[in-house]
Amino acid sequence: MRDILRRLEEKRAAARAGGGQRRIDAQHAKGRLTARERVELLFDPDSFEEWDMFVEHRSTDFGMGDQRTPGDGVVTGYGNMNGRLVFVFSQDFTVFGGSLSEAHASKICKIMDQAMKVGAPIVGLNDSGGARIQDGVASLAGYAEVFQRNVLASGVVPQISLIMGPCAGGAVYSPAMTDFIFMVKDSSYMFVTGPDVVRTVTHETVTHEQLGGAVTHTTKSGVADLAFENDVEALLQLRRFIDFLPPSNREKAPVRATPDPGERAEPSLDSLVPVNSNTPYDMKELIRKVVDEGDFFELQPDYAGNIVIGFGRIEGATIGVVANQPMVLAGCLDIDSSRKAARFVRFCDCFNIPILTFVDVPGFLPGTNQEHNAIIKHGAKLLFAFAEATVPKVTIITRKAYGGAYDVMSSKHLRGDVNFAWPSAEIAVMGPKGAVEIIFRSDIGDAEKIAQRTEDYREKFANPFVAGARGFIDDVIMPSTTRRRVARSLAMLRDKKLENPWKKHDNIPL
Ligand code: HXC
Repeated sequence: MRDILRRLEEKRAAARAGGGQRRIDAQHAKGRLTARERVELLFDPDSFEEWDMFVEHRSTDFGMGDQRTPGDGVVTGYGNMNGRLVFVFSQDFTVFGGSLSEAHASKICKIMDQAMKVGAPIVGLNDSGGARIQDGVASLAGYAEVFQRNVLASGVVPQISLIMGPCAGGAVYSPAMTDFIFMVKDSSYMFVTGPDVVRTVTHETVTHEQLGGAVTHTTKSGVADLAFENDVEALLQLRRFIDFLPPSNREKAPVRATPDPGERAEPSLDSLVPVNSNTPYDMKELIRKVVDEGDFFELQPDYAGNIVIGFGRIEGATIGVVANQPMVLAGCLDIDSSRKAARFVRFCDCFNIPILTFVDVPGFLPGTNQEHNAIIKHGAKLLFAFAEATVPKVTIITRKAYGGAYDVMSSKHLRGDVNFAWPSAEIAVMGPKGAVEIIFRSDIGDAEKIAQRTEDYREKFANPFVAGARGFIDDVIMPSTTRRRVARSLAMLRDKKLENPWKKHDNIPL
């Protein structure tokens, strides 16, 4: 017995030591934490339960037979984040560069399977050189096993990837299929083919950071949702983030006690929208003034800034916010903003999170660039996402709601539950100038006549009352009462039941 205990302790010590002090020091020298240090920071103190510490790889080629580290380069298990159950895998770069062997993959699959059974989120801390070269095709099989589970878990439990080192080749496709990707600046990168291959094939010279670093993916490609300064900030923000999410599609997000009353008025909102309807204002100010305690967790803030997405709470319950941003491209919809918001709306719908939509949209962005790159298909994604969503949907039109974009932005016609307009709302087929130039084309040479007709149009259509007369909006509300009206609407909708017709799955335009 004593012998077994001694061996147990030796194995545990070997697993904890990973690839040894020299490699741990190298990891620290790069400004990165080790896999275990990350897990420690992620979970509440003393709550982590580790599994499969004794798993070893099965390779014998290339001298691998005598190079075995218990745990095989990934720390897996579960623990509590702010008291709530979460499963984790954390790749250990000090063991074969965190590369994925068959055994390493089977550890990840085990916690994914368990998370799905009990209904708890899965967090992946990625820091890996990709497929374990010595493991051959078995490592590719391991990746595919993980991919398959990513797909099966999609919409069942939230999946979050934190990229904290290399993530290259086919390995990127596991994070790509998770719900959210966070990265660490100057420390992590993701690409399908690295700078060397790029140079050979396309003759472009590019650094790792330029090709697939955190800034690239949060500003240019939109692959990642957020970029953090370092490991510690990323892990602490992930702890904050997970509090907004439900554990699975079977439950609602936790309700958090708040001192912020739902009835709170916000008088400053009455003067938020400028008199001139072409003058921008900051939609984020409105969002922060409406949600509990001004606490808004924005996603993708530096990508497609013409639409704002993120989580907040109303009376303690999580909501997803989607809002046009008049400060960027006048808040129009384009390819990037449509894709960004569509995926977010679908996440909310999967996970029982009500959607609050703020609308100030002049329409879709015109141009050959947009048309040739398929704005038709991409815009349809957002339309599809709002239309299929069965969660509570509350919409506030603050100013412009023109054309097809009016329909798309969670309108009454797409089963919006409560649709309000501010007095400044302009709901019409198109803006006054464009409309007059089409229907009174023969008057175009006569500036006075055009001005008069434009004014008539503005008077007649650029207001909330035409839509109000048809019941397309439920009420015209004072901006200062927005939080109260949203809170009451969401309280009314708390037990909403709505089901789409049975189908195997839909066929969203991709
Ligand atoms: C086995 C690996 C490895 C791998 C790194 N190591 N990647 N071992 N398989 N894929 C080992 C190294 O031998 C080294 O071991 C240790 O990890 C650290 O690696 P370094 O190169 O010293 O570190 P660094 O300079 O920081 O460079 C990191 C790296 C580089 C950029 C990730 O190691 C690299 O390019 N690795 C190969 C990446 C790759 O091509 N992977 C396969 C991609 S294909 P020692 O003993 O010296 O510490 C793929 C397909 C997936 O992933 C398919 C899914 C469908």
